[in-house]
Amino acid sequence: MKGIILAGGSGTRLRPLTKVTSKQLLPIYNKPMIYFPLQTLLTAGIKEIMIIVAPDHAGDFLKLLGSGNEFGCKFTYEVQDKPEGLAQAFIIGANFIQDDQVTLILGDNIFEDNFFDAISSFQSGGRIFAKQVPDPERFGVVDFDENKKAISIVEKPEQPKSDYAVTGLYIYDNSVIQKARALQPSPRGELEITDLNNKYLEEGSLDVAFVNGKWLDTGTFESLHEAIEFIRAKELNTTNENN
Ligand code: DAU
Repeated sequence: MKGIILAGGSGTRLRPLTKVTSKQLLPIYNKPMIYFPLQTLLTAGIKEIMIIVAPDHAGDFLKLLGSGNEFGCKFTYEVQDKPEGLAQAFIIGANFIQDDQVTLILGDNIFEDNFFDAISSFQSGGRIFAKQVPDPERFGVVDFDENKKAISIVEKPEQPKSDYAVTGLYIYDNSVIQKARALQPSPRGELEITDLNNKYLEEGSLDVAFVNGKWLDTGTFESLHEAIEFIRAKELNTTNENN
């Protein structure tokens, strides 16, 4: 299993915080944001990780993370010239993925869950993770039939059919490369991860699991603040336990 952290994009929603740096390098209490998705992959047992970054900040990521030695893994870096969509990660990463399976995590997503079992038990198709949220219109939204089988996934629907958001961790078999290459850009000019997930859904090979613990997408000032508070509380708790 290979891992990809997608840490490009322009971070426009967080301006002026992101005027001179990348969103995924902003501090979440005592660590840069990207440390959290990185830790999620490492805890899941993934050791070969590609980090996809925007051209302006590539050097900063290299300076922060280096070869991977410090983290007991190996990093490969790629530049995404323009933010042309999450699914483009699999086209950019095709040579790195080779014939393997791949887990993609978004560089601005913070998970409390441990995905070790979900990743080691993965065999084929796609596996995504849903979480009930109060503001589903901000996300990809999945709805289910009475047997909890996924029916459809819609990207940022105005009228969501459920309150289950698709979170930013995706596990795919090797056909993801070919499926990503066959995608057409959406009206907003992006290769959408939701379109990719719908291909797996149509094929009958998409498993929708659930996130149990806390999940934070740090894409807005409010959610960034919430993430900082959450990590601070966790860190202080650990410090108190150790004293
Ligand atoms: O956080 C989960 C959500 O992530 C999902 O529910 C949605 O289905 C999915 O489309 C995505 O929505 P966002 O609105 O959060 O995507 P955003 O454009 O903010 O991009 C997510 C991260 O990926 C962000 O850290 C920037 C990075 N990115 C984004 C794009 C479009 C890239 O590195 N390259 C890109 O081309």
